[in-house]
Amino acid sequence: MFKKILGGLISFGVLALAIFLFIAWAPSIDPVEPSSRDSFSQEQIARGDVLAGLGNCQTCHTTDPDQPLAGGRAMPTPFGTLYSTNITPDPKTGIGQWSEEAFTRAMREGISRSGSQLFPAFPYTHFTKMSDEDISDLYAYLMSQRAIQAEPPENTLEFPFNIRLLLAGWKLLFFDEGRFQPDKSKGEEWNRGAYIAEGAGHCSACHTPRNKLGAEDAGEAWEGATVNNWYAPALNSSNRTPVPWTEEEAYSYLRNGGSPLHGVAVGSMADVVHAGLKRAPDQDLRALAVWLSDLAEANDAGQASKKAAGAILAAQIKQNPSAMMDEGEHLFTYACASCHYNNPESPNTLRPDMALNSAISATSPVNLIRVTLDGVSLKDGMPNAMMPGFSEALSDRQIASLLAFMRATHTDQPAWANLEQQVRDQRQ
Ligand code: HEC
Ligand code: HEC
Ligand code: HEC
Repeated sequence: MFKKILGGLISFGVLALAIFLFIAWAPSIDPVEPSSRDSFSQEQIARGDVLAGLGNCQTCHTTDPDQPLAGGRAMPTPFGTLYSTNITPDPKTGIGQWSEEAFTRAMREGISRSGSQLFPAFPYTHFTKMSDEDISDLYAYLMSQRAIQAEPPENTLEFPFNIRLLLAGWKLLFFDEGRFQPDKSKGEEWNRGAYIAEGAGHCSACHTPRNKLGAEDAGEAWEGATVNNWYAPALNSSNRTPVPWTEEEAYSYLRNGGSPLHGVAVGSMADVVHAGLKRAPDQDLRALAVWLSDLAEANDAGQASKKAAGAILAAQIKQNPSAMMDEGEHLFTYACASCHYNNPESPNTLRPDMALNSAISATSPVNLIRVTLDGVSLKDGMPNAMMPGFSEALSDRQIASLLAFMRATHTDQPAWANLEQQVRDQRQ
């Protein structure tokens, strides 16, 4: 009896393994001669350039700005470090020998030309939604870039996470291969925005929390998440800023890197805007804004500036509740208020109003801590505007009391816990 059960279990195990290997195995696709630039039209290459911007290929695949797309950028994961690959047309170290078929398979199925499984740090879980034409344009663009010979460093993932075959199991659980499905109840512009956001733009890769195995948590879609020490706020109606993301606000933020009633794009979002969206035409960013304002349920655009004025006034009243200034108020008055003041009727994007900014109202204080420590560089936020950093001038305790004061007076959100510890962590 026991032998029979054991025998049954073993043959079941062998069968399951065989099925798994069958699913996990993918053939290698034959190498081809690198395509010449002349085999693509200028229009196709130009369209591919826009898509590469929307997909942030440069941001992840570049370490040295003089070696664009040559890979080697470290991506820390909880299981070790993964390095992005060389996607220039170099035949030896890049994708020069990849046919369009091999490229399409990588983008849609996460399988390399050699047949090995690719890690989802490469957002093929989103790129799979892109149309045939878009993938073809992107291929034309990549194949017409300068070939650079460069080998990325070896990954340092721990066992068993370094076994690529196991990614086939991950895919069974978390990956839906397939093109974008338009929502027929919405208009054409909305669908164009959703196509960009879910596909090439992979916005939820940062704005949706992930589970323990690194997959986006569908039940928590768009609820906001921390990625590489920046907090990407919720983009649905859970966004905590007093003014909802109306179409005009969203467009201004995505086009210029800042909007009057919300503030500016810093950290990884600055790359998304200034290295990526910058290359997209206005109609694509309008479409994204239409989709985004619907996701944020920002349907009362007429109320936006009234809400903003109300929040600014309320913060002005909450400051100085008694004649005695505490340390936080003192620091705010001398270190920040000289730049961050506004006329409630017409807040200025170049002085982001602290009563309207996600950095102060978000569930996580990391963006506010990082901006206070490091300031905002010329290339972040609004072009040509900058803010000095205070890491030298203020101690961890001073920053903690300053930020606690700002949170208490400029929002109606609960106080952040362990602020001083969080400031210390961000300094490292
Ligand atoms: C968030 C970071 C990130 C972004 C954005 C990104 N990639 Fe990657 N990509 C990676 C990583 C990491 C790998 C390596 C995955 C692995 O080793 O399994 C990779 C691998 C690839 C590969 C497979 C190369 C090979 O040699 O196997 C291709 C092709 C590729 N990316 C193309 C693109 C294109 C085109 C874009 C823009 C539309 C893009 N990637 C955007 C991180 C990224
Ligand atoms: C690489 C990660 C990353 C990707 C990809 C990304 N974002 Fe962000 N996003 C962030 C971070 C981090 C912030 C916070 C920046 C700040 O406060 O200045 C942010 C902020 C925002 C904000 C402002 C939210 C607020 O309340 O202040 C909007 C709107 C936004 N992103 C839209 C998008 C859209 C649309 C896309 C896709 C086209 C996208 N993001 C892709 C990381 C990302
Ligand atoms: C010399 C003027 C100046 C001072 C002083 C200053 N800021 Fe700023 N701050 C700016 C400017 C300008 C921007 C917008 C930068 C840009 O768009 O590139 C900004 C942006 C910000 C943002 C917006 C980031 C976002 O995600 O939207 C925050 C938060 C902020 N400052 C907090 C502070 C705090 C806290 C202090 C005091 C410790 C302070 N600032 C002091 C000029 C200043």
